[in-house]
Amino acid sequence: MSTIPNQPTRILIVGTGAVGAFYGSRLALAPQTLVSVTCRSNYSAVLSSGLQLDTHSFGSYHFAPHAVYPSISAAAQAPHPFDYVVVATKALPDVSDDSEMIAPVVQGNKETAIVLIQNGVGVEQPHRQRFPNNPVLSAVTVVSAQQTSPGSVKQNRWTRISVGPFLQGGIGEEEKESELKQRSEKANRRFVELLKEGGIADAEEYDEKGLQLVRWHKLAINSSMNPSSVLSGSTGNSRMSLDPELRLHLAGCMNEIFQTAPKVLGRPWPEKLAKVDADKILKSSERNSEGLPSMLVDWQAGRPMELEVILGNPIRIARAKGIEMPRLQSLYALLKMASIRRQEDQSKAKL
Ligand SMILES: NC(=O)c1ccc[n+]([C@@H]2O[C@H](COP(=O)([O-])OP(=O)(O)OC[C@H]3O[C@@H](n4cnc5c(N)ncnc54)[C@H](OP(=O)(O)O)[C@@H]3O)[C@@H](O)[C@H]2O)c1
Repeated sequence: MSTIPNQPTRILIVGTGAVGAFYGSRLALAPQTLVSVTCRSNYSAVLSSGLQLDTHSFGSYHFAPHAVYPSISAAAQAPHPFDYVVVATKALPDVSDDSEMIAPVVQGNKETAIVLIQNGVGVEQPHRQRFPNNPVLSAVTVVSAQQTSPGSVKQNRWTRISVGPFLQGGIGEEEKESELKQRSEKANRRFVELLKEGGIADAEEYDEKGLQLVRWHKLAINSSMNPSSVLSGSTGNSRMSLDPELRLHLAGCMNEIFQTAPKVLGRPWPEKLAKVDADKILKSSERNSEGLPSMLVDWQAGRPMELEVILGNPIRIARAKGIEMPRLQSLYALLKMASIRRQEDQSKAKL
């Protein structure tokens, strides 16, 4: 982080889709921040017109990034290093390694904090390994947003984002005091402050294990609803929750996560999360008649799904501790093969 007085905080958003544009636009409103973005398919739209936000929480507004880059290597030519590199791509470790992608803007700058706003678990590990001296911050959001056209983002509801430092994953003993731990906690506190200054009143600061529990709790919803919606023939959350057999299946999947996470992390659920059990989630899902799980949207569009971070990683992390999650393992095995078969069909169709 910039320690020189009156120096702005420089932030780079990598993956300027729904989540990246929404939080980037809020961080830009904090005093003394310069928020730049890297874009891919929406590069020309964002370069020419900036980003248009249509939000439930803050109304409609325009966000003009400090700089718009077509690639990470272009961002690496910026005259100053970034204080924060915020990764908000879909987490697809089976397709690409995000830590390798951001290396040009991180390597050589040990003060640069990497912030991962992504679903699933285990997303931090490649960054921790590649950048052993950089703070890695792990963030979980419940926002509901989508990019409706290149450069236009709609936030439907919710703003909450939980952020915590990542040192060795919260698995095992509490991380001992170290210089990296101190720098990570400082970067974490400041990042949450910046979000609050940008209007995200429910930005929350966590310690390492606390944040991992938030991650696993959100996983209970994603790892049950997402794959089941694809495997049940494109069924939305509400209809699945109202079907008696599927409801039993979904509750069974959620309970596997609820029972496993405290054993993996060595800390019980805090009261706030323990209260939100399978029954509560299913009751609330009954009312969510428009929402389609992101995995279903990706499946229908023929795009890769976040299968490894939502199912593969939790299954492997639990297995390493001697715990099996059989319902989730079945979902993973079936959907992984369906995805491989779909890819084969796509390749054949191109011939
Ligand atoms: N949207 C939500 O409501 C929501 C809520 C909670 C959590 N999340 C999680 O947040 C993460 C981001 O989701 P999202 O909905 O914001 O996804 P998204 O709208 O698809 O945005 C991802 C962005 O990353 C860009 N990108 C991917 N690889 C890139 C690369 N190598 N270089 C530059 N840009 C790259 C994509 O560009 P292209 O357009 O070229 O692919 C896209 O603009 C996911 O882990 C998701 O599960 C999303």
